[in-house]
Amino acid sequence: MILIIDFGSQFNQLIARRVREHSVYCVIEPPNVSMETIRACNPEGIILSGGPASIYDEGSPKVDPAIFDMGIPVLGICYGMQFMVHTFGGAVEKSLKREYGFASLKLHCTQDLFADIKDTSCWMSHGDSIKSIPDGFEIIADTANTPVAACRHPEKHLYGVQFHPEVEHTCEGRKIIDNFLSICQCTRNWTMASFARETIEEIRSTVKDQQVVLGLSGGVDSSVAAVLIHKAIGDQLTCIFVDNGLLRKDEATTLKEILTTNLQMNIRFVDAGRQFLAALEKVTDPEAKRKIIGNLFIEIFDEEAKKIQNAAFLGQGTLYPDVIESRSAFGGPSAVIKSHHNVGGLPETMNLKLIEPLQYLFKDEVRALGTELGIPDAMVWRQPFPGPGLAIRILGEITEERLAILRDADAILLEEVRSAGLYKELWQSFVVLLPIRTVGVMGDHRTYEFTCVIRAVTSKDAMTADWARLPHEFLAKVSSRIINEVRGINRVAYDISSKPPATIEWE
Ligand code: XMP
Repeated sequence: MILIIDFGSQFNQLIARRVREHSVYCVIEPPNVSMETIRACNPEGIILSGGPASIYDEGSPKVDPAIFDMGIPVLGICYGMQFMVHTFGGAVEKSLKREYGFASLKLHCTQDLFADIKDTSCWMSHGDSIKSIPDGFEIIADTANTPVAACRHPEKHLYGVQFHPEVEHTCEGRKIIDNFLSICQCTRNWTMASFARETIEEIRSTVKDQQVVLGLSGGVDSSVAAVLIHKAIGDQLTCIFVDNGLLRKDEATTLKEILTTNLQMNIRFVDAGRQFLAALEKVTDPEAKRKIIGNLFIEIFDEEAKKIQNAAFLGQGTLYPDVIESRSAFGGPSAVIKSHHNVGGLPETMNLKLIEPLQYLFKDEVRALGTELGIPDAMVWRQPFPGPGLAIRILGEITEERLAILRDADAILLEEVRSAGLYKELWQSFVVLLPIRTVGVMGDHRTYEFTCVIRAVTSKDAMTADWARLPHEFLAKVSSRIINEVRGINRVAYDISSKPPATIEWE
């Protein structure tokens, strides 16, 4: 396995993705990780990530230099390389100017790290740079602007690159990382099947004969977590599905069907739509909506969970990005687990221990795992849907009438997205209902009805998103169908804002 030290780069999760793409397991730890923990991981190699700091900054992140004496290869990327060079007595030059963008590498050697590299374009994003390398190191690549674009210490197997091999712009970045994994002689056996086997065993030995409760939202993460736990302990797992009345058209029924027929688990369905709608009456502020929905969910979930005798664990579908993001960039308190969106936080009185079997996986790995576990595509490839559901897609007050209008419009969009083969391509596609009426004309009549907005985005992780360039003909068809088929809407707009600065949801 490979240990990645997170110096705060926005790309550190990408490094992990690249390593795992080569069937090598890896974990990301903050720089203040103890040598004891590092040794316990028994890594075959270490990658030091980039980061926004300068090593000259007060409090800049540092990892215990004892890692360089472990006898295993280390690859420093950008700040990681500067940290390594500085530690060994080389000179890092502080610069006020950043080098950002493409550069072309001139390779001084074509072995180990650069074996079989043909395309030498790389992506730079740095301020400081290396002025002189320490004793025992040699320069293995330079660029027009960067005399030390890569270096190595051949005896100690230490490598540094100033550019970012983990980003797509570095054409042969994958190969460079592959080469580093070969230098480390990594065992390449990280597959979803092996992960599932090991995790199932681990869950069994943790839970023993106790009971686990899990909040099913109908989304990919909680479903995959539930199936994994179910494979480990069978009916010792009870799932609770709270229908908050804020789901899309026919969603509760469809989910119920998929969950019961395909997953064959012990699931308790709670029909709480009326309670949620009553609690949301006249509420217009988005954060107030979220709070009300979150708290009521906890209350109902808690009440239901209390009926389960001897419940000792709460299963959650927390993913690795949530775990990483919940740490402070420079290694503050480690691994404070974010409360799951759809569970809304663990009620203290429940006194349950957490089981989070997906906490080391990325979203696409969860999908691959879901397929490995035999979960149908319709479940595995569902677009993300927020816990507060349609409540944050109806701007302003939520009423039965508005819910019905939005459900119909949204169903048309989704039907068209699916039949155009766009569903998997889009990260999310949905309709937002605005509390604004505009004038229109239908036949010989004047209309004065609501406006809705189509939102469709592409994204890898929801941290950033781009508005989807949907074909005009497609938009025309959806708009025409919504206006003609949905009573209450006479105008459709298309949202062409990206995140940032906009967000995916409107509230
Ligand atoms: P934004 O709107 O912040 O959304 O760009 C990023 C992703 O998070 C989802 N989202 C939520 N999910 N509870 C959730 O469970 C929420 O309150 C919530 N708000 C946004 C959103 O759908 C997108 O996938």
